[in-house]
Amino acid sequence: MSIILNCTETAIKDAASNLIKGDLVAFPTETVYGLGADANNKDAIERIYKVKGRPIGHPLIVHISSMVNLDKWAKDIPEYALNLARAFWPGPMTLILQRTDIAKDFITGGQDNVGIRIPSHPVALELLKEFESLGGSGVAAPSANRFGAVSSTSSTAVEVELGDYLTKKDLILDGGFSSIGLESTIIDCTRTTPNILRPGAVTKEMIAEILGISIGSKTQNAEYIQVKAPGILESHYSPKAKICINGTPSYGDGLIAIESFKTPEGVIRLASPKNNEEYAQTLYEAFRLADSRNIEKVFVIPPIGNGISVAINDRLAKAAF
Ligand code: TXA
Ligand code: MG
Repeated sequence: MSIILNCTETAIKDAASNLIKGDLVAFPTETVYGLGADANNKDAIERIYKVKGRPIGHPLIVHISSMVNLDKWAKDIPEYALNLARAFWPGPMTLILQRTDIAKDFITGGQDNVGIRIPSHPVALELLKEFESLGGSGVAAPSANRFGAVSSTSSTAVEVELGDYLTKKDLILDGGFSSIGLESTIIDCTRTTPNILRPGAVTKEMIAEILGISIGSKTQNAEYIQVKAPGILESHYSPKAKICINGTPSYGDGLIAIESFKTPEGVIRLASPKNNEEYAQTLYEAFRLADSRNIEKVFVIPPIGNGISVAINDRLAKAAF
């Protein structure tokens, strides 16, 4: 496996041809890094599951470069979903839509819908464009981490997580730290009204503003327990350290809290974000820092309010479960 630190046009073209050949390419997105493979290549997709240690049958998100390619993967798209796509793509949002025939069971986990996203990170977009110009239709990419572990927000984190499982021909493209730092908002668009399956940087308020309706989050709803979405499992996004929400840290414990919160003596400060956006950006790196320093307990003072803090609190609850 090589890490490409300088993602020139030529380097990205080469990476796209690696994908076409069936190799894996981890790439930066504005949310978190993805572990990419040709979404039409069953063998390559099987390797994603092996490298991640992910149970077979969990669906993968297909990444495309523009809405022009949407009809290849999805059909009977409701008007509200198109409105969301126009408003928030390229960006941190995944839409669950009725699948077409090219979205095979090995992508959708046997469900008759498919998750689609157009990311905005320039390296991701360029890679997808080059891949499509070579005849590809979409790149399946789960977060580039071992199953259940913390998503990667840097190329170094990808290497730490997956380096041992990648082969010589696989690549990791570096694109700096992910600017958002939490996985995309997933919105189920297969019903008459949209439902948020996983909160993210495209918030409930932003969606309501575009659609002019208030929308639900059905992750706790019984009918969604059937949906095979590990990101909505109760335990996920977990570092090795035990995450304690609120509570009082003791000597040698880690602490993540907003800047104004004072660090008690002997406690190891892992992050001091200035605002909720920075909180999201630094959270996973702070978890990784805790593990690299063998800290056993991390106390977290959760952010308050709406917007991105809903997504932060969702991940904190899962990491603490
Ligand atoms: O920000 C992101 O979404 C990142 C970047 C790389 O795009 N990707 C990501 O993928 O977080 P992953 O596989 O780690 O998490 C995607 C979640 C999983 O919980 C998966 O089960 C769910 O989305 N998902 C994918 N397709 C689905 C579908 N058709 N129906 C329901 N859930 C789906
Ligand atoms: Mg994931």
